[in-house]
Amino acid sequence: MKNSAVSPDQKMIPVRIAGTGSYLPERIMTNQELEDLVDTSDDWITSRTGIRERRIAAEGEHTSHLAAKAAEKALEQAGLDGADVHLIIVATITPDTLTPATACYVQQHLGSQRAVAFDVSAACSGFLYALELARTSVGSGAFRNALIIGAEKLSAFVDWNDRNTCVLFGDGAGAAVLLPSENGDGKILSCALGTDGAQAELLNIPGGGSACPLKVDAPNEKLAYLAMQGREVFKHAVNAMKTASIDAIEAAGLTASDIKLLIPHQANLRIIDAIVERLEIDREDVFINLDKYGNTSAAAVAIALDEANRQGRMEKGDKVLLVAFGAGLTWASAIIEW
Ligand code: COA
Repeated sequence: MKNSAVSPDQKMIPVRIAGTGSYLPERIMTNQELEDLVDTSDDWITSRTGIRERRIAAEGEHTSHLAAKAAEKALEQAGLDGADVHLIIVATITPDTLTPATACYVQQHLGSQRAVAFDVSAACSGFLYALELARTSVGSGAFRNALIIGAEKLSAFVDWNDRNTCVLFGDGAGAAVLLPSENGDGKILSCALGTDGAQAELLNIPGGGSACPLKVDAPNEKLAYLAMQGREVFKHAVNAMKTASIDAIEAAGLTASDIKLLIPHQANLRIIDAIVERLEIDREDVFINLDKYGNTSAAAVAIALDEANRQGRMEKGDKVLLVAFGAGLTWASAIIEW
């Protein structure tokens, strides 16, 4: 894999995850409901992807609202108020607006007046890109703490007439608070990030940017929706997540047998199975929730991390591997000592 930046824990202050949170919209859309929208079946979706249902944000419920609700729970667990936050990074490909950043709306929702706030756009890898940015920002001493959020309202960018894509995605948000690790009580051990812009066409939203503005008087709706070459994306996802996992494991000075829990991007159960087989990690040591939420892009790893945390799946000292893959193409991984 080319172009992969690996950063082990160097001469920085160690940084830990002090709190996690997640929020899923109330509305559940089942596979059976999709049978009424497109030519598909519960059996096809379940057997090809593992997805059984997904959440759909309400009218008027924007990405920033989902993000703020997840963030409030993470802040509460970390024992911080919104006003205490110094840095907010929102990872999203479905921002409320092209500008300003969704992080600005979240700053307002949380009352985090002193926080520097911006978005990162790295698709499904976004939360782990944000994790590495926040880790180095807090670890260098530039910021006292950081709130990172993966949040998506993909239902607004999915073509509900396209069975190739509409069955895969859902809405939601997950968040984490990063603080210096003062007594060595848990820390992020390594991160590995990578990008391959040559494969940008495999998964994109072609319209709505400066290359193809969507005009009110001549809208071309299709260009505003997610377009994907599923089979090609599948192959890249398996290879990139395997290599990214190995990069982070090696940078942390570990082997795959040290990993107590794998929290992978939640896109497709068959992709997860292929990675687990290649890394030789026990299936019981893998956290999976895609059956309930589908692929929530930048939110997926963040939501899974919070659910694993709140279900007590990680004990102090456990080595946890997070790995993701997405449009860009992008990929990212991290090892956390809990
Ligand atoms: N219901 C029923 N049939 C469907 C369908 C659906 N929802 N979606 C596609 N099909 C059909 C296709 O039209 C195709 O029909 P054909 O053989 O008559 O042409 C057939 O199923 C097989 O399509 P194929 O694309 O080969 O299926 P697949 O086994 O590769 O599964 C994906 C499709 C999208 C589930 C799979 O490729 C995938 O998960 N890719 C990665 C997607 C992803 O993770 N994206 C986000 C990355 S972060």
